[in-house]
Amino acid sequence: MLEQEPSRTAFAAAAHRAAHQVLDQGRIFADPLALPILGVTADEITRGAAEGPRRSAMRFFIAARARFAESHLADAMERRGVRQLVVLGAGLDTFAYRSPLASQLQIFEVDHPATQAWKRRRLAEAGIAIPGGLVFAPVNFERESFVKVLEASGLASDQRTFFIWLGVVPYLTRETIFATLKAIGALPGGAEVVFDYSDPPHTLSPELRALHAERAARVAALGEPFLSQFEPPELHAQLAGFDLSAIEDLGPRAIIEQFVPPEARAQRAAAGGDLPERGGHILHAMTAWKEV
Ligand SMILES: C[S@@+](CC[C@H](N)C(=O)[O-])C[C@H]1O[C@@H](n2cnc3c(N)ncnc32)[C@H](O)[C@@H]1O
Repeated sequence: MLEQEPSRTAFAAAAHRAAHQVLDQGRIFADPLALPILGVTADEITRGAAEGPRRSAMRFFIAARARFAESHLADAMERRGVRQLVVLGAGLDTFAYRSPLASQLQIFEVDHPATQAWKRRRLAEAGIAIPGGLVFAPVNFERESFVKVLEASGLASDQRTFFIWLGVVPYLTRETIFATLKAIGALPGGAEVVFDYSDPPHTLSPELRALHAERAARVAALGEPFLSQFEPPELHAQLAGFDLSAIEDLGPRAIIEQFVPPEARAQRAAAGGDLPERGGHILHAMTAWKEV
């Protein structure tokens, strides 16, 4: 990441969520603050929309990962009494400012300092109120321990904590990813995490590999290169080694089947697009929990 500048990929992810509200009527993931936080109107999105299966695939993936994360969070609150949420690499995520569940949670937003400062300016400019139970924690994951910063900011590590970590893993080194997962798995109160990752490029179909190479060149030019991908069995073994088991890992086929609206799937099939077995994944893992 560029040290002094807000993350450009955070802007891009937020733009996909905003476009999803307008172009897909938020059917996978409804977010009434997606446009205001970016400062764009529906007309601007419609005018700027470069439609096509490639753009819609990324938009659907970003919408699906947010829906997956928030539904697992709701489940963790209901079934396991979770009352602490950490949004790691929050970007322009709006959960804390719009969800009816937010008032029952102590929420920590962790992000690179320059990105977090930009978000706080955007919130102020959009007139979006900051809820009382929200703490901002500026951290560079590659340099500092986010757990120490969080504990200093009031995280009760003896209470079960939910981590939403979306769109961040591909941009971190493996060392930082494993150190983060290890720290999450070691929290004394127990923890759960949702994150997304990608299969290694050499395992993708030629078409997806070309698309990946294009994306990789684009984000590298923005100063945020892709640094890590994983073979699912290797990642699952690492997670289990950090006491994060009970893993639900949705690959690209399952994501499309579960989340993409039927007419978009039909369009894709008509254009000859098979359901891919390799590509982006969304994963939930958690430390042991005993039902009482
Ligand atoms: C693609 S954006 C995703 C943002 C948000 N989670 C979303 O889904 O819209 C990547 C995020 O990771 C954060 N990030 C990347 N590298 C980081 C680092 N070394 N330390 C802290 N944050 C980092 C960026 O600031 C940015 O907010």
